[in-house]
Amino acid sequence: MATYAFRLNGRAVSADSWDPSQPLLYVLRNQFDLHGTKFGCGLGQCGACTVLMDGTAARSCMTPINRAAGRAVTTIEGLGTPQSPHRVQSAFTTEQAAQCGYCTSGMIMVAAALLLRTAKPTLEQAKQGLAGNLCRCGTHTRILRAVMRAASA
Ligand code: FES
Ligand code: FES
Repeated sequence: MATYAFRLNGRAVSADSWDPSQPLLYVLRNQFDLHGTKFGCGLGQCGACTVLMDGTAARSCMTPINRAAGRAVTTIEGLGTPQSPHRVQSAFTTEQAAQCGYCTSGMIMVAAALLLRTAKPTLEQAKQGLAGNLCRCGTHTRILRAVMRAASA
């Protein structure tokens, strides 16, 4: 058993694992009860499991726990609070940019990462930034409206 220390939503934490290749997604959901990060495909293809690692979007289903060691991980729970939501979270609420909501936390995390690298993206840049995240409900129009709203906030 090895212990992996990292920062999670602003706190210093450590996770124990027998397997250095255990996906960070499983650790987040099972050891830290952070269920906002979703298991979609488990293959790095849908983006439902997106978190921030040192401010960059990362697919937690494809990120082994040993790669999280020493890094700063942010999940949807750490992005904002109900009292003080992140501007992307507020914009998704305002634009009602969800149907079933399964893709939503991944969409919000990838949008937050986009705005960290490009403060004022064009619509085309927003489309490119979110292109790897799938929404099975077809909510893309409202999601893009929310990203553009957040960018102008
Ligand atoms: S669950 Fe990670 S990309 Fe689909
Ligand atoms: S809102 Fe259902 S998958 Fe996107």
